[in-house]
Amino acid sequence: MNENKYYIETYGCQMNVYDSELVASLLKKTGYSETKQIESADVIFLNTCAIREKAEETVHNRLDSLHFLKKKNPNLLLGVLGCMAKNLKDGILESRPYVDVVLGPDSYRKLPDILNDRKSSNHFVDTRLSKFEVYDDMFPSRAEGINAWISIMRGCDKFCTFCIVPFTRGRERSRSIDGIIKEAEHSVKQGFVEVTLLGQNVNSYRTPEGSFADLLSEISKIKGLKRIRYTSPHPRDMTDDVLKVMRDNSNICNYIHLPLQSGSDRILKRMNRTYNRSEFLALCDKIRTFMPDCSLSTDIIVGFPGETESEFEDTLDIVRQVEFNSSFMFKYSSRPGTKASQYSDQIPENIKQYRLEKLISLQKKVTHNVNSRLIGKDLQVIVEKESKKSKKQWAGRTDGNTWVIFDKMNFKLKDTVTLRINDAQGITLFGDPIVS
Ligand code: SAH
Ligand code: SF4
Ligand code: F3S
Repeated sequence: MNENKYYIETYGCQMNVYDSELVASLLKKTGYSETKQIESADVIFLNTCAIREKAEETVHNRLDSLHFLKKKNPNLLLGVLGCMAKNLKDGILESRPYVDVVLGPDSYRKLPDILNDRKSSNHFVDTRLSKFEVYDDMFPSRAEGINAWISIMRGCDKFCTFCIVPFTRGRERSRSIDGIIKEAEHSVKQGFVEVTLLGQNVNSYRTPEGSFADLLSEISKIKGLKRIRYTSPHPRDMTDDVLKVMRDNSNICNYIHLPLQSGSDRILKRMNRTYNRSEFLALCDKIRTFMPDCSLSTDIIVGFPGETESEFEDTLDIVRQVEFNSSFMFKYSSRPGTKASQYSDQIPENIKQYRLEKLISLQKKVTHNVNSRLIGKDLQVIVEKESKKSKKQWAGRTDGNTWVIFDKMNFKLKDTVTLRINDAQGITLFGDPIVS
């Protein structure tokens, strides 16, 4: 008999990537094996994202385009997982009744039973959110690579007024330090050299055994782990203890992704971000006092309801002052159910678009300036992949998360290489290996 095959498509953030790896491990235990060809799959799962309207549209379109596979093979199981599950439960099963399974992010343990007891005519829906589920005892099934994503907490209690995550992923809860260390050690045994700790607010991580700083300190002791990163911390929860542990352990990267969202005090308040402009700037200064070379990146939303031109200028101003190495920049997207979606002063699309373009062009200049200052410096990278432009060159990231392209010579994947930086173009650096 042919083995059953699964196919998973992942949308959204790294937390969804991690969850897809958890789902893969459950499916493997149930006797399924992975296929990369969607046509040959017996079960197809879309692990969905609801953060912006576009993300949801993409999944709706994808479901429509997969309908023909269901018509061809009525035994195919088509499932929707992840952050859209709650919204889908009400809307989609009516409009797209060919979807068989809808599971929210806290219900994945149900998968083996669903697959084993499956009757083709039945829908299975479970979008309840748990106060406790952290999948602490499970190892995800990861493809080989350099970096292993490790979820250390789930959910979010911050309720920024623009954001759907507290509704799709529920209350904040942390995994045990022990479970995380075991998973990190396991990934090192599998050949990973870097881990990135994940959570919607990684630095509000807390268990009876310790804080986020304690966790970082424990992880940094793992032998064979070359690099540790984490994302995303919340500016409000950044403690000196975390900065000290980062400073004192060379395997924790000098890099912080610190989401700003807006540079205007009034907008930050309306967003419920719980810090103001001067607190954010003071935090960036403090980070650089602890770690003068620390790279910073950020997330920014333009066109939040009521944002005036001068409030938008305040955001540009902070980008100039802090000199983020890079930014993820978004047009505000109204999410039904959030507080900001009820604000009456929504910003027209053309203004959002204009502000986004202006911000992107400023960030490009800032990135170029920051990167140009690295020319002539010697920086270490880990060899991660072949350069897209040339088979003769490798690409690797610096500690500060910037890609550098360099000649392959005799280096192998996962080697640590010191490079003298000789050029900066776009968001990329170029370097010459220093061979001692
Ligand atoms: N927990 C992280 C962010 C997670 S979502 C934090 O607090 O920063 C990733 C990014 O998506 C956010 O930082 C924000 O910039 C963006 N985002 C979230 N909701 C959005 C919305 N409704 N419209 C546009 N961008 C949004
Ligand atoms: Fe969303 Fe705010 Fe929570 Fe981040 S901190 S996930 S932006 S509610
Ligand atoms: Fe999207 Fe859910 Fe992540 S909404 S950004 S997949 S937490």
